[in-house]
Amino acid sequence: MTTKRSVVVGCGSYLPSRVLTNADLVDMVDTSDAWIAQRTGITERHIAAPGELTSDLALHAARAALDAAALDPKEIDLIVLGTATPDNTFPASAVTVQAGLGITQGVAFDVQAVCSGFVFALATADNFLKNGAFKHALVIGAETFSRILDWKDRTTCVLFGDGAGAIVLRAEPAPNSQNSRGVLATSLRSDGRYKDKLYVDGGPSSTGTAGHLRMEGRDVFRHAVAGTGDAVESVFGATGYAAGDVDWFVPHQANQRIIDGAANRLGIAPEKVISTVERHGNTSAASIPLALDAAILDGRIKPGDLVLLQAVGGGFTWGAALVRW
Ligand code: UT7
Repeated sequence: MTTKRSVVVGCGSYLPSRVLTNADLVDMVDTSDAWIAQRTGITERHIAAPGELTSDLALHAARAALDAAALDPKEIDLIVLGTATPDNTFPASAVTVQAGLGITQGVAFDVQAVCSGFVFALATADNFLKNGAFKHALVIGAETFSRILDWKDRTTCVLFGDGAGAIVLRAEPAPNSQNSRGVLATSLRSDGRYKDKLYVDGGPSSTGTAGHLRMEGRDVFRHAVAGTGDAVESVFGATGYAAGDVDWFVPHQANQRIIDGAANRLGIAPEKVISTVERHGNTSAASIPLALDAAILDGRIKPGDLVLLQAVGGGFTWGAALVRW
């Protein structure tokens, strides 16, 4: 039985210091700033330093989120990390974050849903908190996609970047009103028929290597714009809200044309859409919490706002969450 609601009490993010611009990419592959900017909206992305791991990025973001929440790490009893680029095949990068924060209680694990990873991690943590299993959760999206890119493939290497974002959730007594703060509804989907549209051509059980990202970009584009509305309809159906009620739409940041297309289909006005793809590129599971943190820091997202998150990624996986911030 649901007795609690998960309330967001802190958000943080981290970007590696090295910036790779479109101009830099022109020296690496047969591309142009104009092509990348017009087709994707991306102008630059951040790249992790040699030796800087996904768990390092996640740890920075987690510490920032804990600071924002004014919470001691020892209060955290659940860590769910969305990533498709873990430090190692195992253990989960989440346990490295757990140890880095000096946490010895509770549980930490990774969730693998590629670019949908943050929404999948959020839904997982929310369900544990709602049912009273844990009190404080760190939900993290962190990626070092630069490590699995084929830097000779212009159709993919210009699109992605590295980064991490995190939120802290607190289980509070469930109120009766949707106007009270917290995660109001989540909806997750996947359809493995499309697993070959966006994948990595390696892995521990297939090649024994990490592999490189491969993608049929047009098919992914079509699905991202037109095939993911059911998850959003589900969170609206569960709460009685509609697109017109949303204060901020924070979609996965893959491509400005996908973001615009998705917002247009949902009937969400452009001024309510948070976009960071221009500066971050596609950071996979990190993109939504990075965008959330940017919009909190610049004063757009405020406590009490109705925030719609929407993600889509390899699998295909997709999902949505409606949060009273
Ligand atoms: O998080 C989910 C992960 N991925 C995505 O969301 C990506 C989804 N897909 C997309 O964003 C878009 O499909 C892309 C940005 C990847 C590509 O845009 P597009 O408008 O679908 O272009 P296209 O694939 O139809 O390619 C158009 C042309 C092709 O040349 P031809 O065959 O028309 O002569 C490509 O070879 O652009 C060429 N091209 C490039 N040219 C310069 C592809 N990549 C590049 C490049 N620079 N980097």
